[in-house]
Amino acid sequence: MPPIRSANINVMDQAARKAARHLIRDFGEVEQLQVSIKGPGDFVSAADRKAEKILRDELSRARPNFGFLLEESGEVPSKDGHRWIIDPLDGTTNFLHGIPHFAISIGLEWRGELIAGLVYDPLKDETFVAEKGAGAFLNERRLRVSKRSELSRSMIGTGIPVLDWPGREKGFAAQLERVSDKVAGLRRLGTASLDLAYVAAGRFDGFWEYGLKPWDIAAGIILIREAGGMVSHLEGEQPWSDPGTLVVANADLHTQLTRLLSP
Ligand code: IPD
Ligand code: CA
Ligand code: CA
Repeated sequence: MPPIRSANINVMDQAARKAARHLIRDFGEVEQLQVSIKGPGDFVSAADRKAEKILRDELSRARPNFGFLLEESGEVPSKDGHRWIIDPLDGTTNFLHGIPHFAISIGLEWRGELIAGLVYDPLKDETFVAEKGAGAFLNERRLRVSKRSELSRSMIGTGIPVLDWPGREKGFAAQLERVSDKVAGLRRLGTASLDLAYVAAGRFDGFWEYGLKPWDIAAGIILIREAGGMVSHLEGEQPWSDPGTLVVANADLHTQLTRLLSP
């Protein structure tokens, strides 16, 4: 049970846990299907849709007036200005390949402003939650971003462009070269919501990725803000959900990382 005892956080936590039980069972199946010729592709899409349906059913039962932005099934209009922003399975490629690192991400907006977020890693049973003004937590522990201020000692996360990725020409190779020359560690863990949660928890000192979608980042952004970190777009000031390159870190490193990533 997360330490923020607000009604919305409880609702999010219960919905995530229910969907996670199915994801964990399906992940067990995927590990078996891995070696089959067809592979687990269709099975994983079904698991993804099932998790989304559970989240949607649970959250609409508890909060009938709230709208949705769902990765798989799109938008449901809000009746009262609240909107859930949901990725039912973040880290699909990991899941598909039997790599035990994926999450459920639920953000909550009110009139366009992020007011709460929860990222749940079912295999590690780690719940990252934040609520505006109430702080960020990992299970029972209060989160703060790292205090490291030297890039040369920092661990930075990113997302690496792959096949069919629309941002190939965005200069990632040059950014990677510049960053890798300066930092102590670089990771591509493949689950953006957890990458952001790890910055909030001080496991990563910073992170950047181009082309993330609102459902990848809604919960993670409020986690970082409530943990005292900085969130911005490399392309300049813009609403949190606009497309672009998300750059997050503690205040000291954020300036240095942004400078290093800028063309
Ligand atoms: C993906 C993951 C990944 C990021 C991709 C996302 P999905 O989400 O968050 O870390 O690099 O840009 O699309 O497809 O697994 O939900
Ligand atoms: Ca995602
Ligand atoms: Ca997803």
